[in-house]
Amino acid sequence: MDTHRRDDDTTPRTRDRHHGGHRIRIVGPNPAMDRIEYLDRLEPHTVNRSLETRILPGGKSLIVARAVSRLGGRPVLYGFLGGVVGRYISEQCATLGIEDRHTVISGETRINPVLVERSTGHSTVINETGPTIRPQEAERLLRALADDCAEGDHVVLTGSLPPGLGPDYYGELVTAVRSRGARALVDTSGPALVAAVRHDPWLVKCNVEEFTTAFGVPAASADPADLVPALRDLLGGGLKTVVVTLGAQGLLAVTADRALTVLPPAVRTVNATGSGDTFLAAFALACARGAGLEEALRQGTAAAAANAAVLEPDLGPSPDLTALLAGVRVRHPRPLAPEVTP
Ligand SMILES: Nc1ncnc2c1ncn2[C@@H]1O[C@H](COP(=O)(O)OP(=O)(O)OP(=O)(O)O)[C@@H](O)[C@H]1O
Ligand SMILES: [Mg+2]
Repeated sequence: MDTHRRDDDTTPRTRDRHHGGHRIRIVGPNPAMDRIEYLDRLEPHTVNRSLETRILPGGKSLIVARAVSRLGGRPVLYGFLGGVVGRYISEQCATLGIEDRHTVISGETRINPVLVERSTGHSTVINETGPTIRPQEAERLLRALADDCAEGDHVVLTGSLPPGLGPDYYGELVTAVRSRGARALVDTSGPALVAAVRHDPWLVKCNVEEFTTAFGVPAASADPADLVPALRDLLGGGLKTVVVTLGAQGLLAVTADRALTVLPPAVRTVNATGSGDTFLAAFALACARGAGLEEALRQGTAAAAANAAVLEPDLGPSPDLTALLAGVRVRHPRPLAPEVTP
């Protein structure tokens, strides 16, 4: 894959300085090609005939990077790519205005088949595990990210970890990002999420199921604001903000001295898959452009609603979020007692 920059090439950092401004870097260790087969009806245990096939670059990092690009940012994408599918994703990066800093691996990047029934709208997804990453490949990505990162950058770490990487891999990346004076924003689940939190990222974002499962918190009651103390328990060290998304109910965001509930604008929901990723893209971009927490949450929520209103996880080439932004509501669920400092 000759489009990939090699480890000894330092041009991107130089280029960043020429353009000024901070970069949004996105790490997705397990990218994919989504192969969507439209069927009239899925009949198991027999041969099915596809009516139409759509091929899209998939994986959470691609959704985040594409949304950053659609919103006028200049995303830089990291992850592991190999084989024919890897080349396809590199080509898509070029088309979508995404700087490609993937690490080339010996394994094959995965394909995720998505079977959509036209008659019911239901879909069946098969998520491949992904290639096994070798230790030297993991190390190359870490080094590339650490070399590129500069103070003020926002680095989104998103999605599951492929085989071969220990649960602490995001933690190692967070440490590298922090050492460069950049901000790490983590969106993952399970042991990878728990481990990443121990390394003090700047922000953690996950959905409510991921939050309650990873941290052993009882499932949300009728009032999601009851989760605020559990979110707050995670704060400390470098971790400044925890965001837990609640699907169509919006999100909770907690900092040391504030708890906010953000309610999305009403949209006709078509497919909310990727709304969390789109939220994070717009949120990180707003932060990089100097927005405060509340404004960044608003921007993220408007973009997430736009994503929920369309079939594929994408904002389209030139999204107009003005009307959606006007419909976002921010509430303070309850005043927080000031932090007790020993
Ligand atoms: N039906 C909807 N209408 C409007 N906004 C929505 C809807 N569903 C989700 N959102 C917005 O998207 C945000 C993220 O949604 P959700 O909690 O589903 O994230 P997620 O599970 O991480 O999604 P994914 O991982 O597929 O990107 C919510 O906080 C909300 O603002
Ligand atoms: Mg998510």
